Amino acid sequence: SNTTGHLWARDNFDARSHFPPSRCRRSSCRQWTRSMLMLDGPDTFVDTGEANHGKDLMKTQPIRTELTKAAQARQCLGDRTVVFVGLMGAGKSVIGKMTAAAMQVPFVDSDHEIEHVSRMSIADLFEKYGEVEFRALEARVISRLLKGGPMVLSTGGGAFMQESVRADIKESGLSVWLRADLDVLWERVKRRYHRPLLKTADPKATLSALLGARYPIYGEADMIVQSRDTGKEIIVDEVLEAIIAYAAVSSKQTVRGSNNER
Ligand code: S3P
Repeated sequence: SNTTGHLWARDNFDARSHFPPSRCRRSSCRQWTRSMLMLDGPDTFVDTGEANHGKDLMKTQPIRTELTKAAQARQCLGDRTVVFVGLMGAGKSVIGKMTAAAMQVPFVDSDHEIEHVSRMSIADLFEKYGEVEFRALEARVISRLLKGGPMVLSTGGGAFMQESVRADIKESGLSVWLRADLDVLWERVKRRYHRPLLKTADPKATLSALLGARYPIYGEADMIVQSRDTGKEIIVDEVLEAIIAYAAVSSKQTVRGSNNER
């Protein structure tokens, strides 16, 4: 569904008054250049360097923009990274991939990146080096990845539990906690045996204990979206809406903060 974009809320927004054109780059031409709307790039309008040959620019209609929700969220992102956090089975990778595709930014999964740099599976890393070493590597990898925004990054369930990781994410990311109920998570993870933390006598009880310990910390994320058994597109849509709403609120806070300092 299309929503009216941010240049937008004002009716008859005229790009020319905000992005004044220059003279056409064709040497013989004395006309003013046109501005063009770019939906995908970081700049909203670019000067095309070309005049509206044959047409009088001042008689053209004011440019009105319609941005899709995804394009709007992409604009709010700037060069930051959307970071998905949450328990195993919450859908961080699937929803992350779809969100990245919608916003047309790269997608990275921190566990895959860890496996790539170590040339080992997560299970082997846990077994050979232990969880402490795994966490140190995880923190380093995430810190490096966060420098490469804009993108969408899905993180392993334990990553956000590390204080240094949370601090890094706060600095250059927008965190989204995909929250899910125990039964939803359990249905999704119970027949998959690659997760070292769930190799216990009673994995559902283990998952439940992790939920109890982690949910207060996950709650520090910038946004919370409820993961549940519904269409994935619906969850992605809610993520995009959350990003737009969060960006609006956090930029207001910045303005208020700088007013207070004066
Ligand atoms: C872990 C979750 C896993 C993986 C590792 C530890 C955790 O990632 O990083 O097995 O501590 O919750 P997923 O959340 O993608 O399963």
